[in-house]
This record gives sequence, C-alpha cells and structure tokens, in this order.
Amino acid sequence: MKYSFEKKVIAITGAANGIGRAASILLAKEGATIIAIDKDIIALKKLKTKLKKNGILKNINCTDIDEISTNLNDIKKIDGLVNCAGIVPQGDLMNCTIKDWNNTIETNLTSVFLITQYFMKLFLKNNQGSIVNISSVASSIKGVKRRFAYSASKAGIIGLTKSVAADYAKKGIRCNVICPGTVDTPTWRKRVLSANNPIQARKDFNSRQIIGRVAKPEEISDLILFLLSDRSSFVTGSVYNIDGGMSL
Ligand SMILES: NC(=O)c1ccc[n+]([C@@H]2O[C@H](COP(=O)([O-])OP(=O)(O)OC[C@H]3O[C@@H](n4cnc5c(N)ncnc54)[C@H](O)[C@@H]3O)[C@@H](O)[C@H]2O)c1
Repeated sequence: MKYSFEKKVIAITGAANGIGRAASILLAKEGATIIAIDKDIIALKKLKTKLKKNGILKNINCTDIDEISTNLNDIKKIDGLVNCAGIVPQGDLMNCTIKDWNNTIETNLTSVFLITQYFMKLFLKNNQGSIVNISSVASSIKGVKRRFAYSASKAGIIGLTKSVAADYAKKGIRCNVICPGTVDTPTWRKRVLSANNPIQARKDFNSRQIIGRVAKPEEISDLILFLLSDRSSFVTGSVYNIDGGMSL
C-alpha cells in the first residue's frame, strides 16, 4: 500500500520515546514534516538526529495551556495530529490518592483536550484533518488489574474521540482511537525491571497477549500511518484494538 505524506505536516505528542517516536520516524520516512512535541528535551534532541530536516522540535508540557499556545503559535497549518503523550501509573482504587488521580487525568486526558482544541482551529481553516488518539486496552475495553486511574483516563479518551468525530465529521475532520495491548517501550521496560521478579513479570506481560509476546512500537505506528492517511478517508469515530488478542 503506498501512502502520500509529502508536504504533509503531522503533530505528534509524546514523540520523544516509545510509540510516538516510532510513529515520528515512520512518518518522516514517508515524507511528512513532524512537529515533535514532548516534555523530555534530551530524548527530543536524540529524535532530531533521526528526523533531520523533517523534524521540528517542540519542548512542551502538554498539560500546560500557556506553554501550548506560546510554543505552537508559529505553526500555521497541519494535516494530522497524534495524541500519544501519556503515563502508566499502577495501583487500584484503594491506593490511588487524589494527587495520583489528578495527575493521571491531567496528563492522559486533559492534555488530549488541550492539544486537540489548539490544533482544531488549524484543521477548521482548511476543512480537513485526521486525529489519532492513543488509548489502551486497559480502558472501557477491558478491566486490567492495578490500572485504576489509568483505565479511567484511557476510557475518557475513547469518549472524547467519538465526540470529536461526531462534531467535526461534516467539516472534513476525522478522529479515531487506537487501543494497544502491551508494547515494548522505555516505560514498559522500567515497569518490568521495577517488579519484585522481573523475569516472571516479563513472562506475565507476554502471556497477556494470546499471540504470546508484547508488541514492537513499529507495529502500532503502521496503524497510526493508515489512520492519518487518505487511505482511511471513510473511517471516523472508530476504536482499534491492536493488542495481540489481549482483549479477547
Ligand atoms: N507501552 C505500552 O504497553 C502501552 C500500552 C497501551 C497504551 N500505551 C499508551 O501509549 C502512549 C505512549 O506510551 P509509551 O509506552 O510509548 O510511553 P513512553 O513513556 O515511552 O513515551 C511517552 C512519552 O510521552 C511524554 N510525555 C508524558 N507526559 C507528557 C506531558 N505532560 N507533556 C509532554 N510529553 C509528555 C514522555 O516524555 C515520553 O516521551 C501512552 O499514552 C500510553 O498510555 C502504551
């Protein structure tokens, strides 16, 4: 399948690591200019060596409305947006503090609201655009142990996606959501290493997917690419599990 991303501008949050990084590299290879948004400046600079002239770095905390409007006001046109920035806090209802809860909702859900609202003005100017949000199987799709605040935030992204899809379909703007199972990214590796028994933890993570392994970030970016492209022109408001069968 051939894609056409030449002259397309794609903004990606959480671009510096993991799934966002893999998507940035793939899209740049396809010719897109990437607005790489992340609060991790060191990893952003490393990404720049891969994106070269196809990368514009934006060191922004996506929960901060002032940082967003100040640092993005030089961007006058975009064709696509990937909301990927997020954190994966662990714990159940009884060990979730109000601070943990607020931080999770703010980072994983409010950031999607703020960034999407900011870029929507640009999409509306051209009556076109594709938004891809990254949720998780741990959401309204499936109950996963010790992902209480995380699952609530990720279920919110699914609702937000459907609402945006319904409101802006007639304006040429599509919005879809991807729900990955476990993906081999820097934060996932940290979760494995911080377990009491990392070898067992890795086995447990692998067996959550009926395919018997975790995904590579590149296996998620192929779907991101499709949803951003004109090849998915009839797809909006859809929820895509990409989870090696974890949700079955
Ligand atoms: N890895 C998995 O197993 C998995 C599974 C399902 C869903 N997800 C989701 O995919 C997304 C990416 O996850 P990942 O595993 O690649 O994580 P990661 O930690 O490797 O990358 C996340 C990136 O988001 C950035 N970020 C976090 N908060 C930010 C903020 N407030 N402002 C700007 N940047 C911020 C981080 O600096 C980091 O570069 C997350 O939303 C996560 O919930 C991951």
